[in-house]
Amino acid sequence: MVTGGTGRLGRVLVPHLGEEGHRVRQMSRRGAGPGGVRGDLATGRDLRPALAGAEVVVHAASDPRGDPWEVDVAGTRRLVEAVDRSRLTHLVHVSIVGVDRVPLGYYRAKYAAEQVLLASGLPVTLVRITQFHGFVDELLGTARRGRLLPVPVGWRVRPVDVADAAGHLAGRVTAGPTGGVVEFSGPEELSVVDLARSWAAVRAPAARVVPTPVPGRLGAALREGGALPRRGDHGRRTWAEHLRG
Ligand SMILES: NC(=O)c1ccc[n+]([C@@H]2O[C@H](COP(=O)([O-])OP(=O)(O)OC[C@H]3O[C@@H](n4cnc5c(N)ncnc54)[C@H](OP(=O)(O)O)[C@@H]3O)[C@@H](O)[C@H]2O)c1
Repeated sequence: MVTGGTGRLGRVLVPHLGEEGHRVRQMSRRGAGPGGVRGDLATGRDLRPALAGAEVVVHAASDPRGDPWEVDVAGTRRLVEAVDRSRLTHLVHVSIVGVDRVPLGYYRAKYAAEQVLLASGLPVTLVRITQFHGFVDELLGTARRGRLLPVPVGWRVRPVDVADAAGHLAGRVTAGPTGGVVEFSGPEELSVVDLARSWAAVRAPAARVVPTPVPGRLGAALREGGALPRRGDHGRRTWAEHLRG
């Protein structure tokens, strides 16, 4: 069972698991897509039937733009209560590199969700991943202000291809629970300014990247490498390859 099967990651992960021979169901609020069933983490509605009989759960549902305390934290608690403990052999949770270091409300909620799972007594692996290339691509598109593209100066990231992340998660599924946190990221560390310049060259040649200081604790955390992995495996596909399509 993959929660969040209709999301950016889920849409790649579900077919990948199927190709590896797993029988896969996937859950979202609408239950859309192949093998899709309905289940709402915000209310608990339909969670039990959605999870019935699942031997492995990959928990990739999240609500960054809505109410992550209800969906990610309380929702993960509801998930823990709804899983079939007699069948479950592994729960793989998808988290983000830096949830323990970057002072963002969403990251605090993701960290709290990790604590729910670590205290659950379930066989878990918490996989913290860096930003997906496609997500960064969207963010830069929305950050553009006409001909100007302001981006934080000094921030460092290590984005990853979503297919590499799906491949890593599939490997984690079969490797069995670690009981703790592992990290996964892309092949190369980049400054956000360089990443934005290479993006603009391909996506918005008329735009000018404007390195912009970000004051405060958030700015400092990302300058100090809060979004970079401390350990773990790396994917292969680079940001430049993503931009070439
Ligand atoms: N995006 C990144 O760059 C990135 C990087 C590292 C880690 N992650 C983590 O990877 C996971 C997947 O990210 P993503 O970018 O694929 O997310 P996404 O595109 O925003 O997808 C979120 C998924 O969660 C489902 N969902 C939302 N609210 C729900 C609810 N109340 N009940 C049940 N399902 C609900 C959505 O389905 P419906 O809306 O159809 O219900 C959708 O399938 C998240 O945990 C995220 O924190 C993301």
